[in-house]
Amino acid sequence: KETKEQLIIDAGQKHFGATMCKSCGMIYTASSPEDELQHVQHHYRFLEGIKYTGWKKERVVAEFWDGKIVLVLPHDPSYALRKVEDVQELVDNELGFHQAVPRCPNKTKTFLFISDEKRVVGCLIAEPIKQAFRVLSEPIGPESPSSKECHRAWQCSDVPEPAVCGISRIWVFRLKRRKRIARRLVDTVRNCFMFGCFLKIDEIAFSDPTPDGKLFATKYCNT
Ligand code: ACO
Repeated sequence: KETKEQLIIDAGQKHFGATMCKSCGMIYTASSPEDELQHVQHHYRFLEGIKYTGWKKERVVAEFWDGKIVLVLPHDPSYALRKVEDVQELVDNELGFHQAVPRCPNKTKTFLFISDEKRVVGCLIAEPIKQAFRVLSEPIGPESPSSKECHRAWQCSDVPEPAVCGISRIWVFRLKRRKRIARRLVDTVRNCFMFGCFLKIDEIAFSDPTPDGKLFATKYCNT
């Protein structure tokens, strides 16, 4: 019986099916020339984008056994701002965000997690906010859409709650996920966002979270 389900022919190729590049983390079909080309194009741009050569003046705000967190502020030297722009472009590409316009460009604080291999493997962009809207828990039952179907359309409360710090982007390099890098970035933001105080969980808010972002935020905020 003829079936239309087979999409790739196993003709004994060296690589077959979906592969993840061990250096750039891109998932692609190695047997497809278009995918291979896309991978090559992405690979060098991505690795160049996350390369961190070190700066004469860097603001190290946390240090760990596997890296450090550097804070970049709006009036920092152009080499630092250029790196932030490059990383943000890669992050926005991955997240599908197209309008990269920060609400208060003069007050944006960018935290970069630099790995021991001198790569930017985590990025968090924070800005001051005055209020936030709590994400409501999803209804449970046969009619509730799966998180895949509703993607990012979480239902929010329409009651504003006071907040101090909005996290507009949080991203960790695919090959470095689940190593508590995001958690350490948020801890550091809470510690450094406002001089002299450690922000409470209720005072930070994640804007427009992706499914990954929601899973992380739910765990981090214990909600
Ligand atoms: N699925 C389930 N639980 C998760 C996930 C996940 N994908 N990611 C994090 N968690 C939970 C886990 O409980 C985890 O603890 P555990 O590993 O001990 O179980 C805990 O959160 C802490 O996770 P971290 O290791 O600190 O998170 P990580 O460094 O992997 O980064 C992040 C999480 C930033 C969401 C990462 O998956 C990522 O970059 N995803 C792609 C980009 C993205 O979607 N970013 C969020 C956009 S929303 C916004 O920017 C406001």
